[in-house]
Amino acid sequence: MPGERRMKIVHTVTELRAALAGCQKPAFVPTMGNLHDGHLALVRQAKPLGDVAVASIFVNRLQFLPHEDFDSYPRTLDADCAQLQAAGCDVVFAPSEQDLYPEPQSYKLQPPPALADLLEGHFRPGFFVGVSTAVMKLFNCVFAGAPQGGVAVFGKKDYQQLMVLRGMVRQFALPIDIVAADISRAGDGLALSSRNAYLSTGERLEAVQLSRELRSMSALLQAGEHNIAAIEARAVQTLTARGWQPDYLTVRRRADLLPPMPADLHPGHLVLLGAARLGKTRLIDNLEW
Ligand code: PAJ
Repeated sequence: MPGERRMKIVHTVTELRAALAGCQKPAFVPTMGNLHDGHLALVRQAKPLGDVAVASIFVNRLQFLPHEDFDSYPRTLDADCAQLQAAGCDVVFAPSEQDLYPEPQSYKLQPPPALADLLEGHFRPGFFVGVSTAVMKLFNCVFAGAPQGGVAVFGKKDYQQLMVLRGMVRQFALPIDIVAADISRAGDGLALSSRNAYLSTGERLEAVQLSRELRSMSALLQAGEHNIAAIEARAVQTLTARGWQPDYLTVRRRADLLPPMPADLHPGHLVLLGAARLGKTRLIDNLEW
């Protein structure tokens, strides 16, 4: 079609650097693919923040435990690229493992245990080492030649990941602004996730209860309930009784994800975070309060 914008799809670091030659300030959205509207909202948010919108698609083995879903994680490159093109993406970086890790990645980035060993890091040991190592490498691939640094957009859906990566950028003085995007939800309130595709029809109907439970916890705080342990226990019991296996439903401080002190119990300072398995699918969600 005349005038239609052509999105470039590149697979190697060399091709990526060539595609970005002359760009001043990339706006970057890292993903593991199998894209949904939440990912695309990140791309649309990134687009005006730089002179080229870049998305990566890479299922990062380093952040999966041996029993997790690395092998079965849906890989849908063609459909992903069609959606990225429609969302205004300019360059897609979709390396193979051989392209991104041509030798075993034995240098790793170690985020601080005080943040990275909590919550997701407790239930998925090594997860944030794997995430930080891959994202640092992707940042180097995308931003190395950019004279003005750049912007990277991450979703609040992965709240702790966002905090770990913000800390990484700050402590390593990377010339990258991290922008946080709100959680995109389905009509019933379920946070969009690539893993929702694993849910059976019945599980999909039930899955919304995770976000409902976070909303109930928020309502209790709003009503002045200060017994955090009771709020958490009630939420865990409710989901367990409905057939879930919760890892945590918890009230934390936004600043450091530690349990709140009585002085912290004010709106604007807290975040409610949940992770629970429904059948074989592990879902996470959170709600700022
Ligand atoms: P992935 O799960 O594909 O998510 C890519 C980005 O999309 C992350 O920033 C995530 O928070 C965001 N996202 C996913 N679902 C969302 C939703 N419903 N609303 C808003 N944002 C959403 O997160 C990863 O990949 C990986 O850990 C990665 C950062 C790419 C490193 O491998």
